Amino acid sequence: GRGLAEPRRDCSSWDPSLRRDDELTTLYDAIVLGAGGAGLMCAATAGQRERRVLLIDHADQPGKKILISGGGRCNFTNIHTAPDRYLSANPHFAKSALSRYTARDFIDLVDRHGIAWHEKTLGQLFCDGSARQIVAMLMEECAKGAARVSLGKPVRDVEHADGQFRVRYGELTASAPALVIATGGPSIPKMGATGFAYDLARKFGLKVVEPRPALVPLTLGGDEVLFRELSGVATEVVARAGKAAFREAALFTHKGLSGPAILQVSSYWRHGEPVGIDFLPASGRHWLLDAKRERPRTHFHTLLGERLPGRLAEALTKRLGLWGELANMPDRKLEEAERRLADWQFSPNGTEGFAKAEVTAGGISTDGLSSRTMEAKRVPGLYAIGEGVDVTGWLGGYNFQWAWASGWAAGQAL
Ligand code: FDA
Repeated sequence: GRGLAEPRRDCSSWDPSLRRDDELTTLYDAIVLGAGGAGLMCAATAGQRERRVLLIDHADQPGKKILISGGGRCNFTNIHTAPDRYLSANPHFAKSALSRYTARDFIDLVDRHGIAWHEKTLGQLFCDGSARQIVAMLMEECAKGAARVSLGKPVRDVEHADGQFRVRYGELTASAPALVIATGGPSIPKMGATGFAYDLARKFGLKVVEPRPALVPLTLGGDEVLFRELSGVATEVVARAGKAAFREAALFTHKGLSGPAILQVSSYWRHGEPVGIDFLPASGRHWLLDAKRERPRTHFHTLLGERLPGRLAEALTKRLGLWGELANMPDRKLEEAERRLADWQFSPNGTEGFAKAEVTAGGISTDGLSSRTMEAKRVPGLYAIGEGVDVTGWLGGYNFQWAWASGWAAGQAL
């Protein structure tokens, strides 16, 4: 009968609801836009503090990036979390939130939910089972705080008047004195990522630091396309861009360079700058001259092949033009080869862009935000958290830790 045709309301238990403009508007204490890691943490935290929270996402399920993260096991934090492992126009901004909600705090939460985890490498913690456990845990925490979660409805419009934020989403309208922007950055648009956070922030007069792809593979052009022949070859290197240096694996791809060392430096790399690669970080000084003295009959590419994958040794030998036995090579040529191998200069012509970037660097400027609460200084009640803010972590669980910490900070303040 008619009952089935009644308009859907996603909040019927909380009165008062009021009619405005002939539209049913549901009142909340806070509306959180974006049910990713940051938004879920924020909604759970505020909900458990007795705040009436509405969490809205246009996706049909929460935490989609959590689900695909860490190869499906979610690298949910890093035990070496520290502010200097984050990039931001204001390197001090992340300190407060990171110190108030730490990796230990998140591990305790994971433990309380009985989720098994392990350290993989470099302090990176992963679920033994599945990233689904992390999403389920955060949804349970939201339920514990009685936060309403609305999925599959796009946000159509946000208005601000008389100290209330009024959000139209799908065919519904909600209103609250606090609005949290937690819609993330534009990396991986095919998963529903958008620049919505920036549009909204600008609408409220917040500045946006130019967003750029980070933790992203670099592309090679010109003469360096020759390295594409090495697609699939990986080796441990030290990669450098600007002042940053990372000792991890690098991988040649059919477009250029990838692997953890490259993803890490990509966040620091700027167009036009070189990326320096030490192909032999474990080799001591003068190792080539020592080898020449000890094994003069050895061919250069054989020696290199003992320390590097064969195809890479061959390609580097070709470019150095050092064919033949070490004995026939002048010392200064070997010294020069050693220098080049320790700081091979690549000139990337770009990155693989937002389509392949694990995160977005830049974003909503921290200038306009309180580092303690994430609230906009000039717009009381407006908050921004997570990846949409100009705070970007290293590879290895740091970005989720920022999502948890910033979400918690705002959740405590709402
Ligand atoms: P997030 O992007 O997670 O959430 C934003 C939410 O807002 C989404 O649910 C989206 O649907 C919604 N939304 C967007 N626009 C909207 C709109 N207009 N209206 C309504 N809703 C909207 N980090 C890490 O620490 N460890 C790891 O293992 C990985 N692994 C990893 C793998 C891959 C493939 C990627 C792409 C990224 C990672 N990351 C990671 C990075 C990590 O996923 C990222 O930093 C966090 O998910 C950011 O959390 P947020 O909640 O800020 O945004």
